[in-house]
Amino acid sequence: MKKGDILVSGVQPTGKLHIGNYLGALKNFVDLQNSGKYQCYFFIADLHSLTGEFNPKEKQKQILNLTADFLAAGLDPKKSVIFQQSQIPAHSELMWILNTITPMGELERMTQFKEKAGMGDYLLYFKQLSENINVERPEEEKAWEEYEKIKNFEKYYKELFSREIEPTEKDLVDLHKILNLLKNLSSTYKQLREFSRATNNLLDEYVKRSKTKFGLFDYPVLMAADIIIYNARFVPVGDDQLQHLELTRTVVRKFNSKFGKTFIEPKAIQTETPRVMSLANPEKKMSKSQPESCLFIDDSPEEIKNKIKRAVTDSGSEIKYDKKNKPAISNLLEIYSALSGDVIVKLEDEFSGKNYSVLKNDLAELVADYFSDFRKKKSALLKNPVKLRLALESGSEKASKIANKKILEVKKKVGLI
Ligand code: TYM
Repeated sequence: MKKGDILVSGVQPTGKLHIGNYLGALKNFVDLQNSGKYQCYFFIADLHSLTGEFNPKEKQKQILNLTADFLAAGLDPKKSVIFQQSQIPAHSELMWILNTITPMGELERMTQFKEKAGMGDYLLYFKQLSENINVERPEEEKAWEEYEKIKNFEKYYKELFSREIEPTEKDLVDLHKILNLLKNLSSTYKQLREFSRATNNLLDEYVKRSKTKFGLFDYPVLMAADIIIYNARFVPVGDDQLQHLELTRTVVRKFNSKFGKTFIEPKAIQTETPRVMSLANPEKKMSKSQPESCLFIDDSPEEIKNKIKRAVTDSGSEIKYDKKNKPAISNLLEIYSALSGDVIVKLEDEFSGKNYSVLKNDLAELVADYFSDFRKKKSALLKNPVKLRLALESGSEKASKIANKKILEVKKKVGLI
């Protein structure tokens, strides 16, 4: 194995890879591997994939499918260690030890967790509402009693959100009471309808949060373990994983200061396209959770054509890179540029005076061509699942040697052995 800095990254086996996964991560894995500068570890993050909904009967297929994606895209078991996370128990052991030094407050801040578990933007939204509530005292004396109640409610809201921490269970009970109060009052005070609606939404988010599984919360700690167990200095990932990497660095600092220098603080490596946007909504990132927004890398040329044809565009007709005013066209241009290797200014020049449909047709052709070799290689690989399994097993064996050595060092440091 060649020398050089260690680099680690993983992908969840949850179905097909989209072009965001490819341009933000997989394509870069291959380039970094072929640069010869790093010792590369790429893995199937199967344990992470259990935090979403899944069918156990499909899991093996998904693992092999992702292995085929890796190999067909150009990852080479002779150059990189390609392995399956769950085959290396040391990842989970290290996660447990890291759990004991990771503050819940750090995990509660994770955007991905908030998005998936509810309460995402709600706290901010409520804070804004509570700052802007301003109920005037009514003219008629008979409404004064109501006014007093509203004032109490207003005080409560302001107090709740000035704390800047998440409401407790007692707050939840109080919010219930307030909601009932508002139901009776909102016809008198129009502006309170908004509060009533928002309170209701917050309660829904609470219910969602309370049903959220702990694995989703702990997800970034397992990710930290995946990385630092190999002494990785670099982690190639898309934008959505940067916060998790920041947490990894925090956990490393905590561990090192408590038990002595043991781990390296890893850094992200990003591509020019760390955040490919959805074809259906260019304000949102392309995500497997919205398959209709995705261009999958093993889509057929017809599917590619249809999807790109249906992709939303911006107003106007000029093909110009302008993320603020033309987010949809800018996204298509970014994809075009990343696959063709042409810089965006050159593309703007080429498409100048042409309309959106020309760009869409050309892009569809480019994507279909680009992945044609990939599709062939992948379907050949899938015909031989035993070979895929063997490749994973041999990679997992190599990875476990390193991981087992590190977990021993960690156990010694914390006094377990
Ligand atoms: P996953 O499987 O969700 O995504 C795999 C990689 O694709 C990137 N990505 C994107 N890049 C650009 N634009 C997009 N729209 C887009 N969507 C996804 C992701 O950033 C990621 O790099 N938690 C990880 C898996 C993981 C991991 C790790 C990664 C587990 N342990 C340790 C690095 C190191 C994940 O869910 O990736």
